[in-house]
Amino acid sequence: MKRIRIEGGHQLKGTIRISGAKNSAVALVPASLLSDEVVKIDNIPDISDIDALNEILKYLGAKVKKEGSLMEIDSSSIENKEIPEEISKKLRASYYFMSSLLGKYKHVEMYFPGGCSIGARPIDQTLKGYRALGAVVKEEGNKYTIDATELRGAEVYLDMPSVGATVNTILVAVKAKGVTTIENAAKEPEIVNVATFLNNMGAKITGAGTSTIQITGVDYLGSCYTEVIPDRIETGTYMIAGALVGNPLRIENIIPEHVDSLINKLKEMGVPMKVEEDAIEIQAQSSMHRVSVKTLGYPGFPTDLQQPLTTLLTQCTGESILEETIYENRFKNVPYLNEMGASITIDEKKLHIEGPTPLVGKEVEATDLRAGACLILAGLKAEGETVVNNVEHVLRGYENIVEKLSSVGAKMEIEEI
Ligand code: EPU
Repeated sequence: MKRIRIEGGHQLKGTIRISGAKNSAVALVPASLLSDEVVKIDNIPDISDIDALNEILKYLGAKVKKEGSLMEIDSSSIENKEIPEEISKKLRASYYFMSSLLGKYKHVEMYFPGGCSIGARPIDQTLKGYRALGAVVKEEGNKYTIDATELRGAEVYLDMPSVGATVNTILVAVKAKGVTTIENAAKEPEIVNVATFLNNMGAKITGAGTSTIQITGVDYLGSCYTEVIPDRIETGTYMIAGALVGNPLRIENIIPEHVDSLINKLKEMGVPMKVEEDAIEIQAQSSMHRVSVKTLGYPGFPTDLQQPLTTLLTQCTGESILEETIYENRFKNVPYLNEMGASITIDEKKLHIEGPTPLVGKEVEATDLRAGACLILAGLKAEGETVVNNVEHVLRGYENIVEKLSSVGAKMEIEEI
């Protein structure tokens, strides 16, 4: 087990540079299999989720070269074989391989994907997309065997704007015969990144970033180069660190528009910020106003920042309300925050956060990726020492988090026990 030890109460001053987006990179890497030539993806973050995807690529026989943040993938001679459960359960995004292999070979065998335990996370909408395009899905326990004699374009209406189902349907449709239309598609920037990558290979996708996406199938996808967009959730996490203990904290290599919902909430709280073309500078305040926040699909407030934001709301004056509408089990961080001195009650999908309350260092558990980020933020603000256990979850999605925070004045270290 790995843990992070933090000596709290230090101000952060200086610049943090944001890495490539986890949730883009984990889709781009499996999408690369659709090409019959070499593809290059730059700005790949150095996180363990990418290591897990690399394991699958290599298992399938792809040739992978990695130099810094540039990844070169040659999947021209891969073998389409069953992906074992031990590797597919490591992360949610393993199901993007299921779609790429189905799109390319019209046959795939894989197990139910893994991922953070934050709710039921069914894949019915992905399967609905597969079936609409003509695939037959056989489910045996948690194993899926999916076949299609021919993949044909179709109209797919998603019951909810699911990121995964939108990307999966695109991956299956790019080489299908005819036109596929996805209605009620998710609009997250990561989907635009995936569509641009595939278009660079020769796909014909329009409308990514809106709720209607149209894909005209093509026969061949070739070589291309693309860059992963900056991680808006990493950006938001460090913006929250800035609002907690920044003096000031500058966050660079970002797309401010992608974090508009957080910028606006911080403004409502009264946190001063300097927003530039690709950077934000934030100064912590001794007093902040309470706010109400509801998580929604993009461009609404992201569920992935709900847990990190909870730490900040413990420092606002009055009762803040934070409503989680995407996942049913994303409050596992709350008991630990309360042990550290917060005053939070859970009322079904809502948190009632009474503040401000001083935080004190404690030994706590990172139960999932963003819960871990929330507790690290709390540790930075708290008086005394905080130990966050099980930070493997955090390292899945935050590149060099200890190094980045230490470089701006945090006193923290990672230990293996
Ligand atoms: N849903 C269904 N059926 C489906 C698909 C989704 O009911 O077939 C429900 C889910 O249970 C959830 C909601 O729809 O309640 C949204 O799920 P979505 O499919 O959009 O999420 P995802 O694709 O599984 C991605 C990110 C998550 C992020 C969500 C929402 C990746 C690998 N994961 O998950 O990221 O929370 O979109 O933005 O891209 C994280 O980074 O910490 C993380 C969990």
